[in-house]
Amino acid sequence: MPNLFLWLSEQRRVFDFVKSNRFARKLASRFVAGETINSAIAAAKVLNEDGTTVSLDLLGESVSSREETAAARDEVLQILDAISTTAVDGNVSVKLTQLGLDIDRSLCIENMSRILDHAKQLDIFVRIDMESTEYTERTLDIFKELHDTYGNLVGIVIQSYLRRSASDVEMLIESGARVRLCKGAYAEPPELAFQDMKDVRSSFVALTKRLVDDGTYPAIATHDDEMVENTLQHVKEQNIPVERFEFQMLYGVRRDLQRKLRSDGYNVRVYVPFGSNWYPYLMRRLAERSSNVGFMARSFFKEMVARK
Ligand code: FDA
Repeated sequence: MPNLFLWLSEQRRVFDFVKSNRFARKLASRFVAGETINSAIAAAKVLNEDGTTVSLDLLGESVSSREETAAARDEVLQILDAISTTAVDGNVSVKLTQLGLDIDRSLCIENMSRILDHAKQLDIFVRIDMESTEYTERTLDIFKELHDTYGNLVGIVIQSYLRRSASDVEMLIESGARVRLCKGAYAEPPELAFQDMKDVRSSFVALTKRLVDDGTYPAIATHDDEMVENTLQHVKEQNIPVERFEFQMLYGVRRDLQRKLRSDGYNVRVYVPFGSNWYPYLMRRLAERSSNVGFMARSFFKEMVARK
């Protein structure tokens, strides 16, 4: 079932059908903070109230025209302005395929440079999300170039399900880069990615240790109790101060755990996606949890019956 949803996330033709379904929209509203910058800022302010910081993400990926990349870039510039003028405690996450990675490397770098120049003026950090393995090498390559110019104004993501990640983490520790560690959310072949969750988790534990020991303000992005517990145990054993790292979770997921970690004094950042292109993001969230799939299936069934 999960892989079906990952496959569906790439099928644009079912997008309009799903988008028009009001239950899908309702489910999306659990994971997506509305379709506008204002709605994302409102959600961010609520999270900021209890000391949770945010990373705002304009939804959208795999953009295929130069005009669309320019529109996405301009919207990211507006998000940076909105964060600054509303004094939200937050930063921004972007996907390189939204900014031209599929079209032309130099266009992508140009768009990112415009974003980072503006982010530098406003002193706001920008994280480059990691997409499927089709893009891993190119994303890391562009990140390295941007990191050489902008330093730790820009950060990157590493996925523990990838077999290559242990060596990428060493390279990123060496360069002092800021890394967000997550498990990885795309369907990948066995030669590139661990297929067994046991292996994905043990890779996550090992990479967490490397990053909190020697990395630069790493972000441990997971809702998995065992991964969180392992991190807490390790930082306590090694006397690593809470200021040296942060936990990150997704908007609408494990709010109980977010609150608990925050009240225990840990830094917690919530990734707040927003925008009208929420369909692939929703499909990836559905793939992660069978109860979400059940909710979605029941909702579609009810609507079909109601339409008859
Ligand atoms: P796991 O999936 O095992 O979930 C643990 C528990 O969390 C579940 O038992 C459930 O209670 C809860 N949970 C998890 N997902 C849920 C959901 N969708 N709905 C309801 N409950 C849910 N991936 C990627 O490839 N590139 C990226 O750039 C990013 N960026 C990113 C940022 C942040 C802040 C986070 C938290 C995650 C990402 N991811 C990502 C996604 C990541 O790779 C992964 O798919 C999800 O975090 C799910 O993995 P967990 O480690 O949370 O564990």
